[in-house]
Amino acid sequence: MQNLLQKVTEFVSESFVKAGKTQNTKHLERTVYWLKQLKPAADEAMLIAAMSHDIERAFRQEDMEKLKKAAGTLDKEFLNRHQERGSKIMAEFLEKCGADKELIAKVERLITHHEKGGDEEQNLLKDADSISFFENNIPTFITNAAAEIGKEEVRKKFDWMFERIASPEAKEMVKEWYAKAVEGLGN
Ligand SMILES: [Fe+2]
Ligand SMILES: [Fe+2]
Repeated sequence: MQNLLQKVTEFVSESFVKAGKTQNTKHLERTVYWLKQLKPAADEAMLIAAMSHDIERAFRQEDMEKLKKAAGTLDKEFLNRHQERGSKIMAEFLEKCGADKELIAKVERLITHHEKGGDEEQNLLKDADSISFFENNIPTFITNAAAEIGKEEVRKKFDWMFERIASPEAKEMVKEWYAKAVEGLGN
């Protein structure tokens, strides 16, 4: 029988296939990997949150595209909707799977704080997310995102994804990737 994390992985992967945004799945799988590196004892809720924290992108609504154009992806409201909607999607999915209420509540708390962190576990997820971002998302940002939102916005995103890292260990790990990303973007 499949465990809950496997069910989540399948749901996330299928959702991004349907949305035509399969590159997100790699970012999420690697967030799980980096979370385990930062915290080998990460529990099931943490691993599930890592695998699904950006699920909102697979169910993106029009208002988000408008907000992105008007205010950018670092806008507070944009980030809040991204986190809140993602958390709701996963809570509904986990409920359907018959998951434990406490686990669902924890996954929700983690996803709703994955962009800015908060407590120790929320910070770990945010750090793993940043590491996976620098490991996997840079080429797409340098080509597609720079054309769509402009180099200046992409640079702001790189800086923000690096600065928000809480653990010195994680910061050290991505220091070179961050420098290369900035260099690759050019002026
Ligand atoms: Fe996110
Ligand atoms: Fe992410």
